[in-house]
Amino acid sequence: MSQLYSFAVGVGSKNSRGEWLEVFYPAPLLNPDAALQDIIRVSLGLTAGEIEPSTEQLAALCSALSHNGFGQFARSIEQLATSSRPVVAVALATNSAPTTVPQAYLKLHLLSHRLVKPHGTDLTGIFGVLKNVSVGAIDIDELPNRLLQARLAGQPLSVNCVDKFPKMVDYVVPSGIRIADTSRVRLGAYVGEGTTVMHEGFINFNAGTEGPNMIEGRVSAGVFCGAGSDIGGGASIMGTLSGGGSLVISVGEKCLLGANAGLGIPLGDRCTVEAGLYITAGTVVTMLDANKKASGTMKARDLAGKSDLLFRRNSVSGAVECLTNKSAVELNSELHTAN
Ligand SMILES: CC(C)(COP(=O)(O)OP(=O)(O)OC[C@H]1O[C@@H](n2cnc3c(N)ncnc32)[C@H](O)[C@@H]1OP(=O)(O)O)[C@@H](O)C(=O)NCCC(=O)NCCS
Repeated sequence: MSQLYSFAVGVGSKNSRGEWLEVFYPAPLLNPDAALQDIIRVSLGLTAGEIEPSTEQLAALCSALSHNGFGQFARSIEQLATSSRPVVAVALATNSAPTTVPQAYLKLHLLSHRLVKPHGTDLTGIFGVLKNVSVGAIDIDELPNRLLQARLAGQPLSVNCVDKFPKMVDYVVPSGIRIADTSRVRLGAYVGEGTTVMHEGFINFNAGTEGPNMIEGRVSAGVFCGAGSDIGGGASIMGTLSGGGSLVISVGEKCLLGANAGLGIPLGDRCTVEAGLYITAGTVVTMLDANKKASGTMKARDLAGKSDLLFRRNSVSGAVECLTNKSAVELNSELHTAN
């Protein structure tokens, strides 16, 4: 029997047609142990796919786990056995594209539990699989009636989002992080230990930080920021979900994207982009030598991934210039060790 890619038991919500809206997995597993896989097969009859286990099946699963050295995992899911809400067990045989809501949520959990890094799990087609949901979760088609019902009950609902990806912290708060405005980080973000996300900061799904990092700008889908990098206030990093871009952007270690800067190429380590400067792949860059004399021009895409570069817009001529970065950013250690 080949090794499972992932296994989890979760509790979630369905709409009135019995369709899954979302799932919360308290303890998703990546590449579960072969012994654990046997227990799943015997107690749930599950080798791959998903089932809605009965109370008896879940009790048998927890008992077998406890008696075979998986007590911690058993404790994390034992309360689900008595749940009055819908429970699902998902076993992903391989890392293939998600085809159901429980599978898609499991993959997003793997990222936010730091079990896989951005691009480390196949999310192909996830937009088509996920439903737009709102508080709770409520199917968007059923929201008007639920709002009315809540009013009539004297307990009005407040809708804090209408989205396919809920906020991460409603599902998991990874260790050692701070997020000033939790709505700015979506489930499926990978937020590394020691990361601070300030109010203007944003991290999309399948994107994130190695940690420690300071995020005061937008980390778009697919973007990963290396350790020690600082994304300044209002800075923007181009994603690939919309707008036609296909180049996957990453930021190396100890980089600084200045306030309101923009990035459309991958950066190597110890690079700085001046506050307010937006570099796109086609930007023509004047290269400056050690004496700050122009030595020629290059397209920014040809500088992709190179380290120790400082990009600035010459405040006299307007030309975008690139020179050797002599002072890589140092994060304020007090801010990041006290998370
Ligand atoms: C680009 C940047 C890193 C340069 O900072 P620096 O390396 O400290 O450079 P300095 O301001 O000391 O300038 C060094 C020299 O370059 C010159 N210089 C700097 N920026 C220039 C520009 N845009 N055009 C022309 N010359 C420039 C300076 O005049 C100075 O010249 P000098 O040596 O003849 O006196 C800085 O301006 C910046 O944008 N930092 C981002 C900070 C930020 O936004 N943090 C996030 C907060 S949320």
